[in-house]
Amino acid sequence: MVDQLSRIKDIVEGVHSHRSHCIAVTSGKGGVGKSNIALNLALALVKHQKKVVLVDADSNLANLDVLLGVNPNVNLLSIVLDDLRVEEVIYHHTSGLDFIPNSSGNRNWQALSDAIKPKIFEVILFLKRHYDFVILDTAAGLAPMSIDLTMRADEIFMTTTPEPTAISDTYAMIKVLDSHKKNLPIKLVLNMVYDASEVADVYQRLSLVLQHFLGIRIELAGFISYDERVRRAIHLQKPFILSFPETAASEEILQLAGSVLSSRMVVSDFHAN
Ligand SMILES: Nc1ncnc2c1ncn2[C@@H]1O[C@H](COP(=O)(O)OP(=O)(O)O)[C@@H](O)[C@H]1O
Ligand SMILES: [Mg+2]
Repeated sequence: MVDQLSRIKDIVEGVHSHRSHCIAVTSGKGGVGKSNIALNLALALVKHQKKVVLVDADSNLANLDVLLGVNPNVNLLSIVLDDLRVEEVIYHHTSGLDFIPNSSGNRNWQALSDAIKPKIFEVILFLKRHYDFVILDTAAGLAPMSIDLTMRADEIFMTTTPEPTAISDTYAMIKVLDSHKKNLPIKLVLNMVYDASEVADVYQRLSLVLQHFLGIRIELAGFISYDERVRRAIHLQKPFILSFPETAASEEILQLAGSVLSSRMVVSDFHAN
């Protein structure tokens, strides 16, 4: 009965509950830094004393467990396939971050994902009731599951590098998302940039074509420098914000977290009045 009641409450409150904020980190092209940004952003929010759960929502090429250097034996799919409860698949990392891993290399992922989609949405709603932030690391590109999850987030961090191929895939991805639903809360995160002028240049070019061809204004959420220590941290299997807290990428991720928190403060102030 209690379970049923909380489920009804979830449905009534919807995904856009004010108490919690769901950020989907996504991209058009693969390999642009989504997983590293999602993971280190989640840890930066933990540093700000927030209750955060990070969900590996990429069942094709899940790898957050590798980045964290942990070896969980259950994952998001266990909820659907083995009937486990959400609490049973949450990994409590020593940093204070809660984390739901995923399984990798599912040959039948497409068919599977259609069958389990409603259940995964329910899981996200459950998490939104229990955490300040739900961070989703999604699969790159136009996979239906990824698009559906991304569209349900409160904020979408569209990640790209300055490479022309990544930029054109970003444009294509935003175009597809916009054709599904107008006015999505998409913000740009530029990764592996060399300097401030490159940030300005890429942001200006992308925002011009988005405005001109799709009539979309896009905000810049933040940027992360190209930083060798990001790669070192991956080899160490210890997130860069923990292994190299002073490095440029760590400072920039903290800034990104700071801007997420300050825009949230404005939103909650607004709702309080
Ligand atoms: N800021 C950065 N500086 C240097 N290398 C980076 C940076 N971000 C990502 N990388 C490199 O890019 C690779 C892909 O990153 P990853 O987070 O796995 O991307 P995605 O999740 O988008 O596929 C990493 O293995 C790392 O070598
Ligand atoms: Mg990834």
